[in-house]
Amino acid sequence: MKNILVTGGAGFIGSNFINYILKSRDDYFIVNLDKLTYAGNLENLKECESNKNYTFIKGDITNSELVNYLFEKYKIKYVINFAAESHVDRSISGSEVFFRTNVIGTNVLLEASRRFEVKRFLQISTDEVYGSLGATGLFTEQTPISPNSPYSASKAAADMMVQAFHHTYGLPTVITRCSNNYGQLQFPEKLIPLMIINALQDKKLPVYGDGMNIRDWIYVIDHNKAVELVFEKGKSGEVYNVGASNEIPNIEIVKLILQNLGKSNDLIEFVKDRPGHDKRYAIDSTKIQNELGWQPQYKFESAIKHTIDWYLNNKSWWKKIISGEYQQYYLQQYSTKKKN
Ligand code: NAD
Ligand code: TYD
Repeated sequence: MKNILVTGGAGFIGSNFINYILKSRDDYFIVNLDKLTYAGNLENLKECESNKNYTFIKGDITNSELVNYLFEKYKIKYVINFAAESHVDRSISGSEVFFRTNVIGTNVLLEASRRFEVKRFLQISTDEVYGSLGATGLFTEQTPISPNSPYSASKAAADMMVQAFHHTYGLPTVITRCSNNYGQLQFPEKLIPLMIINALQDKKLPVYGDGMNIRDWIYVIDHNKAVELVFEKGKSGEVYNVGASNEIPNIEIVKLILQNLGKSNDLIEFVKDRPGHDKRYAIDSTKIQNELGWQPQYKFESAIKHTIDWYLNNKSWWKKIISGEYQQYYLQQYSTKKKN
């Protein structure tokens, strides 16, 4: 049995990971440590609440006393660190909590991992640490780190600490750098779920700038299968890029969502651009494909339809979210963005 500390397991990718992994393996015991920030939601984990291989702890990864206690109590030998402040727009409004959770929190986990001699520390990172691409080229693992937003800078700093712990102390670390995820359970501040639920409510769809920024989209299950593979078979000290070669300009995604929901393009509203908006992300995932045999399995056309259907069929999930502090966030974020 592998005793694994999974952090941030109540968020979008982490909860999809736990739901998936507990169904497919019985050799993992998962301790899910999550602070339950605005983005953490225990409803995402209803199906594994009673699983004997799972336990939930509400707490902060920056709390070293708690983290050390959990390592000792659960004999933790493996760590998968999903916990983070994850939204670029929020990092532009205020960077401090990004530094605290993403950098200091990761460092607390690294120190405990060193002390308790973990066998594997997997850091869930992002392609955003590489910065922005022009019209051509792809991010490889050799692309220099050059983050632009407070979010990506904090993730890059965390990656550097992970690498330093490998280099200095021989901690068996691995890092995954994945492109933009989509799928069920994603908090509706991110592009795809925000546009789906706005369209469902006949609200305007706020597209930043000219809508021609490009992201490289991957279905969350494909990402999580890569996480499982790197966790099991990745080489210590290495970085693995994860992406599904699916570059799409934002405006096309928005139109596709409207078309799928039978809504008019008149709902689109071009608004003031995000400051420092990265133009294009695109991942070269040759390394994980050649070395570990990973391949994305889901086609965008069907997985995005499935995702849209999930939000259509789970209105109570997102209605609860948008009735709370989300309203305040939405007003602050978008009321100042109108172009005139
Ligand atoms: P999310 O915002 O949906 O979830 C983050 C989770 O971390 C939440 O449950 C939150 O409560 C928890 N958390 C935040 N601060 C914490 C703290 N101090 N202590 C304990 N728990 C805390 O994020 P996500 O989209 O699921 O992203 C998960 C990870 O994947 C992040 O590290 C992110 O950088 C990375 N990533 C995300 C994407 C993407 O497209 N969403 C792409 C690549 C990488
Ligand atoms: P987002 O989901 O915030 O992910 P990231 O910034 O980490 O890539 O945004 C994806 C793209 O969508 C990005 O180019 C910004 C754009 N965007 C909008 O045009 N309008 C919005 O309301 C949001 C949230 C994002």
